[in-house]
Amino acid sequence: MDRSIPAETVARIAEYARDTLSAPRFAHVERVVQLTQRLCRRFALSEASGLCAAWGHDIAREWPEDQLLTWSQRDGASQRDGALRRDPLNDPLDALERRHPVLLHGRVAARLLLEEFDVRDEAVLSAVRHHTLGHPQMGPLARVLFVADYFEPGRAFLTSQTRTVPERDDLNEMVCAAIEDVIRRGLELAPVTARLYRQVKPQTPRRDGGMNAS
Ligand SMILES: [Fe+2]
Ligand SMILES: [Fe+2]
Repeated sequence: MDRSIPAETVARIAEYARDTLSAPRFAHVERVVQLTQRLCRRFALSEASGLCAAWGHDIAREWPEDQLLTWSQRDGASQRDGALRRDPLNDPLDALERRHPVLLHGRVAARLLLEEFDVRDEAVLSAVRHHTLGHPQMGPLARVLFVADYFEPGRAFLTSQTRTVPERDDLNEMVCAAIEDVIRRGLELAPVTARLYRQVKPQTPRRDGGMNAS
């Protein structure tokens, strides 16, 4: 049974994204929505939650850096943010986020969804919050959004090989492929992403065919 977010809420978030984002960014969001929906069906996750997270994930992506910093530092300040305060993943800003405030757009979008759209589904808030860097404790919906955001078919960095990653059967394998592609592209891996990578990368097989204990 789908513990659903109202369709009207999802429609309002989609409309907000269309009204406030540039055309190319909105086109990216539409492709992320389509891929998220497919992956939610494949992995038996709530489609309503997936749609809500996908439509909302980049609503703060084009905000100025000073505004992102101001909103990020409001964690715990609002009367209505109980869901975020209960979120064990509600970490303080780290050095990388301070150096690159654009990385804060996920946590700011989660706050906007809570405060402006009354979204209280913690899986949605966590997925939106962690869609850029990931987090080792993130759940299946967050893993789906992380993968859909990286592998949506409009991404210019995709190759004929990486384009097929979303067709795989194993969600963690897709998360692993996304992080390995970040490494292949020579981009800096955030410490939290490196921790997620250690969690999802396949264990080295032992000579007797078993897996290394960890
Ligand atoms: Fe994003
Ligand atoms: Fe995105």
